[in-house]
Amino acid sequence: MSQLPKEQLIRRAQSSGHLTGEDTAYIIYDLAFLRDHMNRLVEAFPDDTLHAVATKACPLPAMLAFQNELGLGAEGASRGEIYLALDSGIPGGRIIFDSPAKTRADIEFALEKGIYLNADCFEELERLDEILKEGKYDSPRIGLRINPVIGEGKISTTSVAGKTSKFGEPLTRDDEIRRAYQHYPWLSGVHVHIGSQGMSPEALIKGTKAICDFAAPIDQIVHFDLGGGLPVRYREGDEPLSFGDYGAMVKEKIPTLVGGRFHLLTEFGRAVFANAAIAVSPIEYAKADSQLVIHLGADMFMRPVYQPHYWGHEMFLHSSDGERRTGPEKTYRVVGPLCFAGDILAQEVQLPQAHPGDLLVIDDVGAYTLSMWSRHCSRQLPVVLGVDGDDVTVLKKRESREDLYRFWS
Ligand code: LLP
Repeated sequence: MSQLPKEQLIRRAQSSGHLTGEDTAYIIYDLAFLRDHMNRLVEAFPDDTLHAVATKACPLPAMLAFQNELGLGAEGASRGEIYLALDSGIPGGRIIFDSPAKTRADIEFALEKGIYLNADCFEELERLDEILKEGKYDSPRIGLRINPVIGEGKISTTSVAGKTSKFGEPLTRDDEIRRAYQHYPWLSGVHVHIGSQGMSPEALIKGTKAICDFAAPIDQIVHFDLGGGLPVRYREGDEPLSFGDYGAMVKEKIPTLVGGRFHLLTEFGRAVFANAAIAVSPIEYAKADSQLVIHLGADMFMRPVYQPHYWGHEMFLHSSDGERRTGPEKTYRVVGPLCFAGDILAQEVQLPQAHPGDLLVIDDVGAYTLSMWSRHCSRQLPVVLGVDGDDVTVLKKRESREDLYRFWS
């Protein structure tokens, strides 16, 4: 199933009654597409796999509740994300807690809730041991993050398998890691996460296989958390793998991983959400020098604005009633509303003749866009709508004047 055509998403949003004159921009998730896509993820791995979707990609409670209904779980990178998952109804047993900076209180909170926990380093294992010695927690599920050290991918800021990565214990310390498992009989899992978007599926397989080869002979390791990281399509030329293709690749290249030896966990974020949403902003000014001023900038598109060589989104022009504009194209520069010169969403983009009031549609904004919102200039967060066939719901209201005041108070 592919996403609904953008015209239809926009028209359904416009006729839903959920948009007001205040909505200078809005985000639309195609929920029918997303449901189907999440089901494809489930089908790609063994039945008892826990798919804990990375909350940092899309932390909306409405979305956490949506994934919960489909039987998926959540991965949280902070106590805040764990709260969001629990408060959206996801049971502790379907939550994974990853963070390199867990406090003692964070750990105790997670253990009380029956949350699966990945320790990041030997020092955290020591802390866990002290806590577990108190004998308060029954059958904790705890893994250790191991860095396969396969090198950095295309994007250094989201690659975590380099020699100097801040995450996990490097596989080069394999003897010490083995000793840790001997020393801590409660340590029953292993965790690997290699990078996000910048690592090819082949590199993900290489790193995951290295950890699987290490873990398979250690009987004590029963849980294998293979992280996230599957790249998605943002621009022409990107050739992503579907969940089904990636699952088949894992089966072919690392048969031990899916053959029943381990209970599997996954933490995909970007590959779940990125392609499921568009952002829409009217063009406020179409300036004579071919600059188009819109209502989203570095606030929602932190990476594309600050690291445009690595990140970018396709853009389309629609008329104010949603119809896709066609015709001869010219080169535009798309700029955001923030108060600094670098707030440029696209230096050069080919679009048909643009008019003020036309809609600029930005594709593939379902992951790591709104979730990385920057408060600079205090623009209010846009409304987020979910289109599910003919139904349109508000997944998140536009931030109100009072919400904004509360944020800074
Ligand atoms: N698990 C762990 C431990 C992670 O650190 C991450 C992402 C994921 C899972 C999910 O990875 P995914 O499947 O979404 O690639 N736009 C952000 C991306 C940071 C991703 C960090 N970790 C940024 O540019 O900072």
